Amino acid sequence: MRGELSLVADCKVVRFDAAFDITRETIGAISDVTLARRDAVTAMRRAFAELNGADVPIICLLRNTSENGLRDAKNLGATCCLSAHTPPAMVARTMMTQVIQDRADRPVRSIERGVARATEVLTRLFDGARSNGPVALAQVDASLEPIIEAVRDGGLTRWLDRVWTHDDATYQHCLLVAGVAAKFSLHLGFSASDRNHFVRAALLHDLGKARIPLAILNKPGRLDEGEMTVMRTHPVIGYEKLKAAGCDALTLGAVRHHHEMLDGSGYPDRLSGDSIGDTVRLMTICDIYSALTEKRAYKPAMPNAVAMAILSDMKGRLEDRLVQSFGEAMGNGS
Ligand SMILES: [Fe+2]
Ligand SMILES: [Fe+2]
Repeated sequence: MRGELSLVADCKVVRFDAAFDITRETIGAISDVTLARRDAVTAMRRAFAELNGADVPIICLLRNTSENGLRDAKNLGATCCLSAHTPPAMVARTMMTQVIQDRADRPVRSIERGVARATEVLTRLFDGARSNGPVALAQVDASLEPIIEAVRDGGLTRWLDRVWTHDDATYQHCLLVAGVAAKFSLHLGFSASDRNHFVRAALLHDLGKARIPLAILNKPGRLDEGEMTVMRTHPVIGYEKLKAAGCDALTLGAVRHHHEMLDGSGYPDRLSGDSIGDTVRLMTICDIYSALTEKRAYKPAMPNAVAMAILSDMKGRLEDRLVQSFGEAMGNGS
């Protein structure tokens, strides 16, 4: 078997109870262990969990190919089961097929993982804010890497396509802004920590909408003046909630000021020019673009080029240079 596998990739044999290193080069694993032994099952559970975490295929060779045997192996995390009597050349071929398939599916899995994590976090945050409960900030951080990875590996276009199927308008919007912010920060070459910070602020920016009546949030078409006044309270509500939860100043600034405009025409504090920091300027662009390109039952997604033309027309209100750079980032949808 080792000889067969070595024809296609480097192959390392590890005793079932020995520690092993999973590196970036690990493309798959084959377990050839009798799962009837309890110590073997314990060792395989640990090993398979690590391999599943690394998202690589695991072929499990089974002495017992009964339904129970197959189920046990799948429960441990095997992605494919073969009889232990399968000729080694066939096992090697199956491994390669699995690796190729795994690579092809990876972007889609990455998107699913990122959207699932972010939705889970948003649901918890909004539920907490809605019921005046605590805002669980610690959990937000665990969703940032999956979001950034999804956009990097799966592409923004796939992210948008997936997020557009979300039926809650506010979650859809927050997921869009988070994906767009991830893409923009990757394009700008932010450090990993700046990137995380920016995507975190994007996820949180509209938390105050948790306290806005659904009739206003989900109203098809334009809001009247009274409704608009209510809607415009969301940045301060979000700010207050996150401040009470001990959120950092930069994120708080982005949450409170993402509707401010450089010419002073925004809200809630009518800030202008230099009093609007870089993070806020970037967030505002991501936010407007996402609002324009949202999909609703009554409104198809606006094409990228049209949304970009609107942003470019907002001269004096948004920073030209940043809008241009944003356009470059969005132009390359993959
Ligand atoms: Fe907002
Ligand atoms: Fe927003």
